[in-house]
Amino acid sequence: MKILITGGTGFIGSYLLHQLSQETHHIILLTRSESRTTTVNKAEVKYVHWNSQTTDTWSKELDGCDIVINLIGKNIFEERWNGKVKQEILNSRITPTKLLVEAIARMERKPSLLISISAVGFYGDRNDEVITEQSSGGNDFLADVVKQWEEAACEAEQYDVRVVTPRIGLVLEKSGGVIGKMLLPFKLFVGGPIGSGQQFLPWIHMDDVVRGILYPIENKNFHGVYNLVSPNPITMNEFSKSFGNVLHRPSWIHVPNVALQILYGEGSKVILSGQRAVPEKLLTAGYRFSFSDLKIALKNILS
Ligand SMILES: NC(=O)c1ccc[n+]([C@@H]2O[C@H](COP(=O)([O-])OP(=O)(O)OC[C@H]3O[C@@H](n4cnc5c(N)ncnc54)[C@H](OP(=O)(O)O)[C@@H]3O)[C@@H](O)[C@H]2O)c1
Repeated sequence: MKILITGGTGFIGSYLLHQLSQETHHIILLTRSESRTTTVNKAEVKYVHWNSQTTDTWSKELDGCDIVINLIGKNIFEERWNGKVKQEILNSRITPTKLLVEAIARMERKPSLLISISAVGFYGDRNDEVITEQSSGGNDFLADVVKQWEEAACEAEQYDVRVVTPRIGLVLEKSGGVIGKMLLPFKLFVGGPIGSGQQFLPWIHMDDVVRGILYPIENKNFHGVYNLVSPNPITMNEFSKSFGNVLHRPSWIHVPNVALQILYGEGSKVILSGQRAVPEKLLTAGYRFSFSDLKIALKNILS
């Protein structure tokens, strides 16, 4: 298959590329880095330079693509939020997604499927309410970004492209994300829960993120929004306790709200708030999670 990916050089993208490269696919990776072509396992991978904010020669790469996977977005924890950073968080998602859809509209041979990543941030802060795909959206900055992001992707439906928008939770893998940040303090015996500890974490193992993103390729009746989270969300206190247990370290030093507010400003709310999101749509469709128990997932990642 010919597959075009944006944001494929990132944390999730690198695992996704590894999985896709097990087959003889032809993969186009749009990146802000230099253009080059290489072989990864069985796949030919062509890195094509774009600036993600304007249409350019990259759009011709879409011609004849079977699938487009849109993973782009400025990391929301890259720096402290201010007006400029918030604008970048928004623009780095909405503009490229709109450009992709506009380019798809112009293609004679259109892709049959657009997988455009989304996030459980759509739901905002929901305490212990069980959140399914039927739940309403939140009303904070991130919820608004995610709503616009999904709407931009869904515009492709008018060109007979099937669109799916997996709302991803907190991705667990050793090389980055929350584990990358928590590992050192725990190893140094100063780890513990962040904030109140009562907030629910919609965690998911990277293996399930990759399989869940690719799930709609084989399951052709699957479309629209779906929660890509483990079936067992747990509180930050429980998460921290399991993390300590697996590492044989204590979990007693609470990271206070104020420390996160200094680091991330308004962005700290993303970590201090929670969603008890469940993957109702995937479970109903018969998807079987590789990791639905947190302790087993952590042992797999940290061993
Ligand atoms: N990781 C998670 O736990 C998680 C959870 C929910 C949702 N998501 C979403 O899933 C997507 C992928 O996540 P990730 O963790 O893999 O992200 P990531 O590692 O931060 O990388 C995303 C890619 O997007 C491109 N990018 C980054 N900043 C950009 C900017 N300012 N303008 C244009 N392009 C930019 C980069 O590609 P190039 O440098 O090659 O251009 C980068 O490799 C993101 O949209 C993220 O919001 C992630």
